[in-house]
Amino acid sequence: MSHDGAAALLEVRVSSKDHVTAGGRSLCVLRDLQFTLPAGRAGAVVGPSGCGKTTLLRLIAGLDRQYRGSIRLPAGGRLGMVFQEPRLLPWRSVVDNLRIAAPQASAATLAALLARLGLAEHAEHFPGELSLGLARRVALARALAIEPDLLLMDEPFVSLDAALARELRGEIAALIDEKKVTTLIVTHDIREAIELADRVFLLSTRPARVGATLEIGTPRRALTKEAADALQREADAAIEAMRRR
Ligand SMILES: Nc1ncnc2c1ncn2[C@@H]1O[C@H](COP(=O)(O)OP(=O)(O)OP(=O)(O)O)[C@@H](O)[C@H]1O
Ligand SMILES: [Mg+2]
Repeated sequence: MSHDGAAALLEVRVSSKDHVTAGGRSLCVLRDLQFTLPAGRAGAVVGPSGCGKTTLLRLIAGLDRQYRGSIRLPAGGRLGMVFQEPRLLPWRSVVDNLRIAAPQASAATLAALLARLGLAEHAEHFPGELSLGLARRVALARALAIEPDLLLMDEPFVSLDAALARELRGEIAALIDEKKVTTLIVTHDIREAIELADRVFLLSTRPARVGATLEIGTPRRALTKEAADALQREADAAIEAMRRR
């Protein structure tokens, strides 16, 4: 495998990734999985539960280097990651969680970021005092505080109620547009992917590969319900075709 930076795009070419199960068996999780995402754009990876989405994100983040293939990160290569669980340091306040991740950021920058995500009044709270929705916002603020060249998010809205998920989705969409950070978001919700991303990668069942790619074409803000419905039908048809293959 190789893992290097300095590209104008995120380029993922994984020829194979295996996990070893508890029983010692080899499990092929990703096979011939390829996609590219231009710098400054948002991509979404959509796939069924257990198909290998988190595995893929961990490869891109460099947390797992046991795979065959190559991954090139956008220029700069600085990563911000929002895990499937918020993973905050429980004995540190909200603002300290950000400070530890981004020691270079000024107090004013961190305060502005917390305000932007509706967290101003929680800066001195500890993670145990936060609801899951707030903790997810803190995890996102922490990832943004490091001013990443690539923002990776693993199902950031899972187990939030629909209204809260919609609100946070809107915040993330606005932040992506504002900061123009290359973003890859993992989700199993096609509608969410269509509303957030410029390009949607539909994964097959395990071993996962990109079975179809949707180009959204319309800027996030201008996407009408009719256009989103049409894209969703296109995605459903592509998934059905993958199933029959
Ligand atoms: N460290 C590991 N060791 C062994 N098997 C693993 C490991 N991590 C994941 N797996 C297996 O690899 C497969 C893909 O897991 P992964 O977590 O990447 O899926 P996912 O698409 O993120 O699932 P979900 O939608 O439930 O989050 C699963 O069968 C899982 O049990
Ligand atoms: Mg996962």
